[in-house]
Amino acid sequence: MTKNNETIGVAGLGLLGRGIAASCIANGFRVIGYTQADQPHDKIIDYIENALIELTEQTKLDPEIQKNWKTRFQFADSMNSMASCDFLIESIVENLESKRDFFNEIEKHIHKNVPIGSNTSSIPITLLQKKALNPERFFGMHWAEPAYATRFLELIRGEYTSDDVFEKGESLAYALGKQPSLIKKDVPGFIVNRIGYAMYREAAFMVDQGIADIETIDLSCRNALGLWTGMCGPFQWMDITGGPKLYAECIERVLPTLCSNNNKLPKLFEKFRKEKSNGLNSRSKFYEQKDNTIELQERYHEFAWRMKALIDEFDPMTEKQEGSDC
Ligand SMILES: NC(=O)c1ccc[n+]([C@@H]2O[C@H](COP(=O)([O-])OP(=O)(O)OC[C@H]3O[C@@H](n4cnc5c(N)ncnc54)[C@H](O)[C@@H]3O)[C@@H](O)[C@H]2O)c1
Repeated sequence: MTKNNETIGVAGLGLLGRGIAASCIANGFRVIGYTQADQPHDKIIDYIENALIELTEQTKLDPEIQKNWKTRFQFADSMNSMASCDFLIESIVENLESKRDFFNEIEKHIHKNVPIGSNTSSIPITLLQKKALNPERFFGMHWAEPAYATRFLELIRGEYTSDDVFEKGESLAYALGKQPSLIKKDVPGFIVNRIGYAMYREAAFMVDQGIADIETIDLSCRNALGLWTGMCGPFQWMDITGGPKLYAECIERVLPTLCSNNNKLPKLFEKFRKEKSNGLNSRSKFYEQKDNTIELQERYHEFAWRMKALIDEFDPMTEKQEGSDC
């Protein structure tokens, strides 16, 4: 992909989409952003501006990019304004019908060869492809927050994804400085969310069972998982701390007591499942009494940068994969 001439459409400029737009701009692409009226344009501009300032301070990003980025960004005023995109990244709400409606419409406006990467967190890509006009152009492109700072990107092949599209997705991932994880089978949740959901379910189950309260579980996870997951993955961790034989014995003992033997949603989630909400910031929280989500999101950005620097220093996986600076 030749960066400066290539245009990436980003649809949905919420929490993730605006970070994806910043990542594309920082890496030399033109971006056309498409979103709904609930996202004021000035807030999105401020977010991208701050992301690029952060990237200039934290990485070797050329300061000229931060100064001139607005010449390479525009808002789409209709779906037809996305017609000039060479690549489309979709990051609208996590709802199958909304995504399908969006794809049905956008496919009428962009050329059939334009790849579409969906940032879905949990919807199988094959399901999104089922009613598409050109199913072979769809693949999963699962980002992590903050999208412009993390190396994480999962690329998922749906049943109908063409080799050519998947290769283009991979080459875009590298052009954006990511260390893409290529996922061979299209399962809900892919890798990291699948593991995450198993953990969230077990955590909630422990609350249901009266084993520990929310704060205690958070503390344990933060103080243990929070350290080693920054340096390596579960398999390398098991090697470092006893090896697979030891883990096989422990896992066998604990398995029958895990909540995975019960497919029901833990009780702790039930009341949230029923609530009506109008978007991320109006939803209730586990820590309702101290609603400092925005402050914590900002603190997390700073933390993520420092973690990234630590990973660079201690990473036992670098000889396999090389990331870029932003
Ligand atoms: N929040 C996360 O940490 C995270 C991480 C990885 C992936 N994702 C996925 O990214 C996607 C977006 O999540 P988010 O957290 O940014 O949500 P969000 O609610 O912050 O943003 C979604 C945005 O989509 C826009 N939108 C809704 N319908 C649209 C349409 N038809 N056309 C254009 N825009 C539309 C809305 O204006 C909203 O601003 C979801 O699929 C989600 O699962 C989220």
